[in-house]
Amino acid sequence: MVGEERRIVSPVVRHPELQLTRFHDLVTVAPEMRELFTLIRRAGRSDSTVLIRGESGTGKELVANALHLESTRASKPLQAVNCATFTSELLASELFGHVRGAFTGAIRDRKGLLTLADKGTLFLDEVAELPIDLQARLLRVLQLRRFTPVGDIHEQEVDVRLISATNAGLRELVAEGRFREDLMYRLRVVVLYLPRLAERTGDVEALTWHFIDQFNQQGNRFIDSIDRDAWAAMRSYPWPGNVRELRNNLEQAFVLGEGPTLKLGELAPELRGEGPERVAAGPTTLVDLERDQLMEAYRETGGHRGEMAERLGISRPTLYRRLKKHGLL
Ligand SMILES: Nc1ncnc2c1ncn2[C@@H]1O[C@H](COP(=O)(O)OP(=O)(O)OP(=O)(O)O)[C@@H](O)[C@H]1O
Ligand SMILES: [Mg+2]
Repeated sequence: MVGEERRIVSPVVRHPELQLTRFHDLVTVAPEMRELFTLIRRAGRSDSTVLIRGESGTGKELVANALHLESTRASKPLQAVNCATFTSELLASELFGHVRGAFTGAIRDRKGLLTLADKGTLFLDEVAELPIDLQARLLRVLQLRRFTPVGDIHEQEVDVRLISATNAGLRELVAEGRFREDLMYRLRVVVLYLPRLAERTGDVEALTWHFIDQFNQQGNRFIDSIDRDAWAAMRSYPWPGNVRELRNNLEQAFVLGEGPTLKLGELAPELRGEGPERVAAGPTTLVDLERDQLMEAYRETGGHRGEMAERLGISRPTLYRRLKKHGLL
């Protein structure tokens, strides 16, 4: 009787016991990530300039935050800026501030993030997108701890610790003449690598339940199990958008699905193997797959870049690079 019952395979998987390690806002069960936490602790203690490398959605912003909180500057401000979201002029004003009359619309002096981050930390996200004309000015900050606000004639001194993040290799950009080599060396004094989600032992499972626990608390839906098909798909999926893509999938399931079991149909089409033209095209390479996903996102959003990036679980600069790579831009 007991033997009979044991042979029955449950059609769902349930919440396992997990020994989660939490480090600031980062959650993991993977030894690869625990090692990184040790490095963050050590790097945090120093005042060295740190470059965080990792694919889109791997948690670079969370690592930058953890580095700041581990440092002696923790009680001072952390200012963050995404180098990809501004034009060169706006970014200059954002970083260095400006004086009244520096340009049309500059009706009063404005402090830049460098000044606001004094004694604290400045986080430059997507640093590969830093316009070449600002690279020389940033170099000066790193070398001499000085900068000049836009439109000013006086230099100011500043004491900031710089952390930057990139998902693109800076060396390739240097080779293309789009990034200064001297700045690259100044930025990558200490380099921290964030592994891809698929390379973290046990984390797809751990983070799946971590996010389910989080969304359960919002009260719209309570998930206590995962359908075996859905779980098989989630385990074998390569997660190109990493943790963000996993979180987005679960959020979608909480919004659109219902009942206590997470089902395959509630996940994004990529996970269901329903990528466009895949069957007709026969065996597909990863490059084809990426292109197909781009095309599908393009069709579904009418080409809206922000929505495309959101849908694919990647950042805008990554989207631009991929569009370019596939000749779609
Ligand atoms: N280890 C983790 N534990 C919990 N949440 C995580 C973890 N890593 C990432 N996240 C979550 O995943 C999302 C993406 O993280 P984050 O914005 O830090 O990634 P990123 O590497 O900066 O991405 P991008 O390159 O697209 O800017 C966020 O919602 C973040 O809170
Ligand atoms: Mg980021």
